[in-house]
Amino acid sequence: MRRVDWTSRAGGPLRGGIVVPGDKSVSHRALMFGAIAEGVTHIRGFLEGEDTRATAAILGQLGVRFETPSAGERVVHGVGLHGLRGSVEVLDCGNAGTGMRLLAGLLAGQAFDSTLVGDESLSRRPMRRVTDPLASMGASIDTTDGKPPLRIHGGAALHGVTYHPPVASAQIKSALLLAGLYAEGFTEVVEPHPTRDYTESMLKAFGWPIDYSPGRARLEGGHVLRAVDVDVPADFSSAAFFVVAACIVPGSDVRLKAVGLNPRRTGLLAALRLMGADIVVENERRSGGEPIGDLVVRYAPLHGVELPLEVVPDMIDEFPALFVAAAVADGTTTIRGAAELRVKESDRIASMASGLKACGVSIEELPDGAIIRGGPIGGGHIDSHGDHRIAMSFAIAGLVASAPIAIGDCANVATSFPGFMELANGAGFHLVQA
Ligand code: S3P
Repeated sequence: MRRVDWTSRAGGPLRGGIVVPGDKSVSHRALMFGAIAEGVTHIRGFLEGEDTRATAAILGQLGVRFETPSAGERVVHGVGLHGLRGSVEVLDCGNAGTGMRLLAGLLAGQAFDSTLVGDESLSRRPMRRVTDPLASMGASIDTTDGKPPLRIHGGAALHGVTYHPPVASAQIKSALLLAGLYAEGFTEVVEPHPTRDYTESMLKAFGWPIDYSPGRARLEGGHVLRAVDVDVPADFSSAAFFVVAACIVPGSDVRLKAVGLNPRRTGLLAALRLMGADIVVENERRSGGEPIGDLVVRYAPLHGVELPLEVVPDMIDEFPALFVAAAVADGTTTIRGAAELRVKESDRIASMASGLKACGVSIEELPDGAIIRGGPIGGGHIDSHGDHRIAMSFAIAGLVASAPIAIGDCANVATSFPGFMELANGAGFHLVQA
């Protein structure tokens, strides 16, 4: 990948209406369920990111035909539950943990062998969290010391299990439910804290009988998926960067339009409101079975908080942006219970702590969080560690920094948020390619 570096300078106020790209979680799942459904699935609002395109390319290798009538649209010609065919080539998930973990579940139940590989960041991420419970269902998957590549041996007879994941993870839950489609009997996942339920709601929409409530999902193998069109909401996790930016730049007043508001995703709103933010949800409605609405965010001075533990799982991808809000807030913010941040695209606690320190912020790392003392942010050179959300978080920090922030290694922003720089500059950022 070509190296891309950015410089973010003081800017704003942020103004106007902003439409962010489609949801990554929903886009991955729509491709996978469309692929193994009977019939043709039309996806609108599809995220044209590298992560979701990697999943589409893999399904293409496995014999699924896609059409792209326009950017953000996919027509998926489903091959049915048993219609995928094996590929002798490796299947490259790129940077996508969601792609790899969900595909591991889907491919565990196939008659053919598969090898899933990923980029440098994904190759460091833990996979036993899915391969161990899949093995308990009868799957045969080799890891490389618990990391990718994953070698999945086809032809395994899967049987349902009841599994209690030790961590709250929609990826673990979804991998098991996908394998459960191919398993004899019932597969049940009981979570330590409810996670995003897109897999469950999409299975239901595709006509598969599933019993679910927050924190629990149960289905039986051997039914049929019937194609249904999918409208993908705008990604809350992408909107989050503009939400925090508008909260911290004086005079800002933005409207983020038609954002997905699944309650398992919106913990950041609760956290920012506790800190004194002015965020109003307008035009609340449902689209494709999901709650959506406009987020109207106006600048308001923030103060530090002790983050309640119960919001943590509902804002797992938004912590890098919250660290920036905490860095400019008045007083101290304490974040605990977020050890999962250490196994994301980078170790996000370490990446944010070293980056904020480089900009003169007082931050103390904890094993499962951080203590951040708010105050002025200076300029500095930081490394994104190849992590899209770290790069975008420091782009926000630059808006209020007393000198430019140079951000190294930002190409990965295209994995989840193509067009971020243009959209950000249109809203009031001063972000340039260095
Ligand atoms: C995702 C679940 C979360 C999240 C990731 C997308 C999903 O990961 O961080 O960006 O689509 O299921 P975990 O399940 O590992 O918490």
